[in-house]
Amino acid sequence: MKTHSGMRTTHGIVLSLFLLTVLLSVRGAAQGKEMNKPVDKPLYERLGGVYAIATVVDDFIERLLVNDVLNANAAIREARERVPKAGLKFQVTALVCQVTGGPQKYAGRTMKESHQHLNITEKEWQAMASDFKKTLDTFKVPEKEQQELFTIIGSTKGDIVVTGTSSR
Ligand code: HEM
Repeated sequence: MKTHSGMRTTHGIVLSLFLLTVLLSVRGAAQGKEMNKPVDKPLYERLGGVYAIATVVDDFIERLLVNDVLNANAAIREARERVPKAGLKFQVTALVCQVTGGPQKYAGRTMKESHQHLNITEKEWQAMASDFKKTLDTFKVPEKEQQELFTIIGSTKGDIVVTGTSSR
């Protein structure tokens, strides 16, 4: 009798240990899965780094420079003629690299300082966004990265667009 109950106790302990092991390994696996969740690389890297970003900015600015909606604004046209485009491309590239997580440091003016004298309207903003989309499609930038870039660009709108309605 005694031996029997002793065996039952041993069985009970073995079973408990087994269940505990199963429980811990299931929990471990669940945690492991959570920990191994793929973390996105910085947008800068997903875009391909400085050379890819500079190429995209180059195409984008070339489009803006011949955009009739933008050139109908005398202040933009005047700045286009005054500011060397190579410098503008450099500044915009540095800014995009910095805000997407690259090692570059943008050293230009704030978006407000560099655009407030241009009287940029909503209509002109939309013309710029449409050119930006064309550039991103040309280089086959994936949808997810396009959206992230539009979110970044969109966050500057309040500092760049001075008036909601276009009088032009
Ligand atoms: C309709 C939209 C936009 C137009 C027409 C526009 C046009 C211009 C022009 C003409 C300049 C030269 C201004 C000057 O030196 O007098 C300039 C500068 C600049 N823009 Fe824009 N821009 C637009 C939107 C943006 C956006 C969305 C960004 C980036 C998020 C951006 C980044 C810059 C930078 C970094 C500079 C150089 C500032 C400096 O050198 O201190 N621009 N832009």
